[in-house]
Amino acid sequence: GVTQAQLAAMQDAAVKAQQAVEANRGTGWLGWMNLPYNQEEIVSEIEKVADHVRKTFKYFVVLGIGGSALGPIAVHQALNHLHYNELPDSKRPGPKFYVEDNIDPERMAALMDVIELDKACFCIISKSGGTAETMSQYLIVTEALKAQVGADWAKHIIAVTDHEKGNLIKLAKENGFITFYIPDGVGGRFSEMCPVGLVPAACCGIDIRAMLKGAAAMDERCKTDDMMKNPALLEAVLQYIACEQMGRNVQVMLPYADSLKYMADWFCQLWAESLGKNKRRDGSDCHAGQTPAKALGVTDQHSQLQLYNEGPFDKVITFIKVENFRTETKIPKGCEEFKDVAFLGGMTHNTLIEAERQGTEYALYVNRRMNQTIIMPEVNAYTLGQLMFLLEMTTAYEGELLDIDAFNQPGVETSKRATYAILGNTDAK
Ligand code: PA5
Repeated sequence: GVTQAQLAAMQDAAVKAQQAVEANRGTGWLGWMNLPYNQEEIVSEIEKVADHVRKTFKYFVVLGIGGSALGPIAVHQALNHLHYNELPDSKRPGPKFYVEDNIDPERMAALMDVIELDKACFCIISKSGGTAETMSQYLIVTEALKAQVGADWAKHIIAVTDHEKGNLIKLAKENGFITFYIPDGVGGRFSEMCPVGLVPAACCGIDIRAMLKGAAAMDERCKTDDMMKNPALLEAVLQYIACEQMGRNVQVMLPYADSLKYMADWFCQLWAESLGKNKRRDGSDCHAGQTPAKALGVTDQHSQLQLYNEGPFDKVITFIKVENFRTETKIPKGCEEFKDVAFLGGMTHNTLIEAERQGTEYALYVNRRMNQTIIMPEVNAYTLGQLMFLLEMTTAYEGELLDIDAFNQPGVETSKRATYAILGNTDAK
């Protein structure tokens, strides 16, 4: 539904947005743009520690939340076996993997039921080094570790945090934890390509160099201000037109691959926390932001598709299609007496899932519902690096087009302060 004329009218704004982002590369909160290039030493260090973790521990537990958890979860789901933790040790490329990104009391208790503390490594990830959820988990885990393993407890902890700010770095220095730093200019939701994402990924056997190469390859494509050649810029412009000019203020991220299920979660945070703002950069009022929603194909065809096809004209559906899955599942012939079942025999789940995706795309089209498809040739560390960097760059450009600060999150502060006040901690920032 977007016309060439609409695109042409955005030409100048697109050029300006790309040039503004590029001009500030590596400065302020755009430190993440250099991550594909400036981490050679740190990557070698991470690989050494990961090797030690894989040889020493049976469980690897990330304690973190938001930007300090969603990337590690998404990458693990995308690149490791879909039943990774249930694999026998000999078939798993690293320790069992858990990300505890909530403080539901039952969750921590459940974790303690399934891990052996003396064989567990805890990776505490916090940029601010003071997030209440993460630090409460730190307190629980360290007390339990001290009771179980005694003097060696600190050897079970890896800290990933700012090099000077916050309490976690102080604790890391005091106790001699293995520590990796989150570089300046890298906010939580843009941190997957720094130790926040690289440490957990490497510890679970993921090729982090390939991820960074993929990110670099996408970055190269984003170095032009020609929106027809820069995929992130074109995507930002299309979403801007869809949301700001055509009222499509919801974007549904709909991967057709279980491996990408949590990429949709990761994207939702990136898009929501970056673009949902009530002030432009000059201080004037707005209320910007397209609401991201997550879904999974084909599962949610049987749950949400009815709404997408017949509900309000307020959505853009973003399919992610995988061209080549890492395995082929054949559907055997059988049930010949039932025509509606028998037709499936001899096909594969690979053809079936793509046929269903195309069927859904067609249905949206005939119902005049905006949709687009991102095609991944296959899901691997390189293409995942490309995809994540594409979406990060898109978000940065979208912030420019909307003229908002895409890198802060003032809207989450009130609830934090209120929580602290309820708990009697009025000094907390
Ligand atoms: O993207 C963000 O900045 C947030 O989601 C943070 O990552 C989240 O609040 C956790 O913060 P921290 O890493 O400081 O513990």
